[in-house]
Amino acid sequence: MVRKAKISDVPLIHKIINEFAQRGDLLPRPLSELYDHLRDYNVIESPHENNSIVGVCGLGICWDDLAEIKSLAVVPTHQGKGYGRSLVEVSLKEAREFGIPKVFTLTYIPRFFQKLGFKEIDKSKLPQKIWADCLKCPHFPDCKEVALITYL
Ligand SMILES: CC(C)(COP(=O)(O)OP(=O)(O)OC[C@H]1O[C@@H](n2cnc3c(N)ncnc32)[C@H](O)[C@@H]1OP(=O)(O)O)[C@@H](O)C(=O)NCCC(=O)NCCS
Repeated sequence: MVRKAKISDVPLIHKIINEFAQRGDLLPRPLSELYDHLRDYNVIESPHENNSIVGVCGLGICWDDLAEIKSLAVVPTHQGKGYGRSLVEVSLKEAREFGIPKVFTLTYIPRFFQKLGFKEIDKSKLPQKIWADCLKCPHFPDCKEVALITYL
């Protein structure tokens, strides 16, 4: 079940995101940022494991018509069960509810997002504001991430 993140979830969200960040798959997120932006995040619980959290996804609002899917991660033992898709779908639903017409992501796995209806775009088409996050990335400025967008 996907639900909004709670304050007590933050240590586990932090652990999940930062384990992938150590492998270079995701941008690391400090605890302070997760607390500041807790309302951006949804988590998914596993009914088979006492409803413990096994995945997370954020939706960051960037500009008057644009939001970003960020920090999407499902723990390795629970991948391939549709959890990643459910997390993204809930974030897209939230974007619609906010009246946001476009949602983008920067990713190393474009195929996953293409299956969800995202289309590749030229990174330079995204507003400069989004590059603030990139400065925190260990790969900056040699970024191999692909930008994809979906129109709601
Ligand atoms: C990417 C990730 C969130 C996918 O989560 P998941 O729960 O395993 O994905 P799902 O089971 O919901 O898969 C949905 C679809 O995407 C496909 N898919 C999943 N991972 C994929 C990948 N790495 N590359 C291409 N397609 C992928 C699935 O085969 C499935 O396709 P189908 O509908 O045709 O069966 C998960 O692999 C992950 O946490 N990876 C590490 C962190 C990361 O790279 N995050 C993304 C950064 S933007």
